[in-house]
Amino acid sequence: MPFKIKIRNSSEIEVDEGNTILEAALDQGIDFPHGCRTGNCGACKSRKITGDIEMSPFSEFALDEDEESQGLILACRAVPWSDCEIEILSEEYNNQSVSNDIEIKSLEYKVENILKKTKDIYVLNLKIENEKSIEFKAGQYAELYIGNCKEKHFSMANSPKSSNLEFHIKTLSGGEVSNYVKNNLKIGENVKVKGPYGNAYLRDQHKGPIIAIAGGTGLAPILSIIKNSQEIEMKQPINIYYGAQSEKDLYCIEQFEEFSKNNKNLKFFPVVLDEPKNKIIRQGFVTDAIIQDINDFDGYKAYLAGPPKMVEVAEEILITKGIRKVDIHSDAFYTPYDEIKE
Ligand code: FES
Repeated sequence: MPFKIKIRNSSEIEVDEGNTILEAALDQGIDFPHGCRTGNCGACKSRKITGDIEMSPFSEFALDEDEESQGLILACRAVPWSDCEIEILSEEYNNQSVSNDIEIKSLEYKVENILKKTKDIYVLNLKIENEKSIEFKAGQYAELYIGNCKEKHFSMANSPKSSNLEFHIKTLSGGEVSNYVKNNLKIGENVKVKGPYGNAYLRDQHKGPIIAIAGGTGLAPILSIIKNSQEIEMKQPINIYYGAQSEKDLYCIEQFEEFSKNNKNLKFFPVVLDEPKNKIIRQGFVTDAIIQDINDFDGYKAYLAGPPKMVEVAEEILITKGIRKVDIHSDAFYTPYDEIKE
């Protein structure tokens, strides 16, 4: 028999035995703040008010011991064993200043194109026939069901205004989906897309400056955010930092250069660790470039996507330099090695 979970200031949901509160809430159409859904980011942090909840393993970065002893939980790891009451902690959620009110759908697409962009990054384009594409906000992600592989999360890189979807897929040794895309996926093959998910989406009502930081295929959601920000003519200063190992690992930079040509308030900084031949590209850690350029992040909104370590270090820098935590919207890309095993 399912347990009843009352979400303070929201509705009541039912959670089947063994399921998490977050998964049940999303399935039942609740706008529950979330990011990774694997206990790594802390976006789904909530307070348990009553009831019996068992937590699956999670990262200390997402919920520390103190918070746990104060009764805080991560909804994506919280499996109830009785009826419960919880409260969502997200400041934005409680101010109701944003609402991710888009219905989650599951639709069939066809592969339109697969393009190799770097030694290990493929751009996958999907089209939909005879149906309206899924709605999403720039920066969100979807679950992709490719071949017979287990579903995997990828961020949309296209603007929400375009009905064809674009995903950036990095091949990983032992990565089931990425290797299928590299070796087996055919033009015209069906791919099921379920979504949208994720809270690291563009806040289009924000009028202050924006910093966007991407590493690796974290460029995909940042590309979607920047495309959308330019389509809706957001006027504030926008600084985009994109980090990679070497010049050869950078891709899609011509799109960002085009944006900065058309908007003098938009600046794009590619940064690589190996010495670049092109002197426009900076050398070093992307986070060091940010420290050199900007001193005060008060009033900024930040969008971060990429390897967990880069996201973590960048968040710390931004907070030290005055950004409010609530203005950081991040999407750490966990590889199978980073994910917490059950
Ligand atoms: S920790 Fe729960 S969604 Fe990331």
